[in-house]
Amino acid sequence: MPQTSQPSGLVLKNMFLQEPQKTTSIETAHRRIATALPVPESVESLKAAADVYPHVNCYPVPVVWDRAEGYQVADKYGNRWIDFSSTAVMCNTGHGHPAIRSAVEDFARTGLLAQFSFASDIRLELAQRLLELAPDSCEKVYFWTVGSEAIESAFRLAREYGIRKRPGKYHILTHSGDYHGWTLGAHQLSGKADKPWLASRDQNIHFLPFPMQIGQTDEADWAEFFDRNVSALSNEVDADDVAAIFIETLQGWGALPLPVEYMQRLRAWADEHEVLVIFDEVQTGFGRTGKWFAHEHYGVRADLICIGKGVTSTLPLAAVLGPAAVLDVLSPGEITTTHAAHPLSCVAALANLEVLEDESLIDEATRKQSIIESELASLSSRFPNHIKATSGLGMVHAIHLAGEADTANQLARDLTWECVKRGLMLFFTGRPTIKVCPPLMIPDDALVEGIGAIGEALQALTA
Ligand SMILES: Cc1ncc(COP(=O)(O)O)c(C=O)c1O
Repeated sequence: MPQTSQPSGLVLKNMFLQEPQKTTSIETAHRRIATALPVPESVESLKAAADVYPHVNCYPVPVVWDRAEGYQVADKYGNRWIDFSSTAVMCNTGHGHPAIRSAVEDFARTGLLAQFSFASDIRLELAQRLLELAPDSCEKVYFWTVGSEAIESAFRLAREYGIRKRPGKYHILTHSGDYHGWTLGAHQLSGKADKPWLASRDQNIHFLPFPMQIGQTDEADWAEFFDRNVSALSNEVDADDVAAIFIETLQGWGALPLPVEYMQRLRAWADEHEVLVIFDEVQTGFGRTGKWFAHEHYGVRADLICIGKGVTSTLPLAAVLGPAAVLDVLSPGEITTTHAAHPLSCVAALANLEVLEDESLIDEATRKQSIIESELASLSSRFPNHIKATSGLGMVHAIHLAGEADTANQLARDLTWECVKRGLMLFFTGRPTIKVCPPLMIPDDALVEGIGAIGEALQALTA
């Protein structure tokens, strides 16, 4: 977590200002800012929150969310924001779509509000629907509650499957800079190898360098880049001892896709050495990038697919999809979990998948990508000294801020807050990026207006 440079007394034990600041009032069809921010009446509750939550939780902007609908969130003091966060790149069909709400309300009346691993029709219906949407090689669905658990279990499945093929085939590859979740295994697959708090790091997880640098154009010989870096690992691991490679299908913090040629070479290498290719589609699945699954952009086959977030756009649900040969390696009851595929989450997922189709939201994500790209290009040309590059696919984009890490991080934080003061809700990435990830259903003019607010905020900060 980056440090705040604000004087103590002004910080809400978190990263943003506590003292209400004057705002310019804003009233459009999409945004409304009518008070100082933080709202003076909300400061006590924000302070109380900082007292009861651990410091690690104290990073969001000091706004108390009260209601949300579609592409907007609101507080109870008359302020309303265009939401470019989709919470954490999650509400693909928007906040609380009416079809999801009414399906959940109706189902709640049945009283089936807990289920553990007993059978139900609603869970089966969702599993079958997910398999219809997934590639043909996916035959089974292993349900979980959150994305980190799906990754954690894919990790276990891959190793169990690997060692049945050949003793010693338990090594796992991942890319530097990936994020796969916070639990012990998922965390070790994330970021860099250096994690001082781990008393003993798993020595059988190996990191490949992420191929794309920020602002780099897709011109390198990516097949050669893959071959070179995978051979560089040969002093650590024999390729035939690799069980799986995890791919964050698009690196979330910076909305960075991998080059197609790189992915195709990786897939060929994986086939040669019987390595499972595991796509982490927790953030990118269900239309976010303009396809059902983002790995479709690479034209390669997935062995396992981890899903979460946008599968419901609302309630918690995650899963691993894959062939029976891999998903069946554990014996009945070897792992149990209490809440996976909660009935209400299954109902929400089924309604959400229907909305994605009925409202053609996946095509909308592709169409709106060109709006985002053209607005971000004009923003970049207005601020050449402050915007280093922009990147992304579909409805997940990032603005990479220029400058030394500390300066750019500080600018990202200040910009986040200035945007919130202008009626644009953002989440702070803790990195020198601003993420543009609205719900897929955002109207075109709200999308343009939101990116315009980033320009106004940047102008105010850098004038
Ligand atoms: C790519 C990716 N994988 C895994 C996770 C972990 O999911 P969860 O936060 O639901 O545990 C996230 C969450 O942000 C993610 O973006």
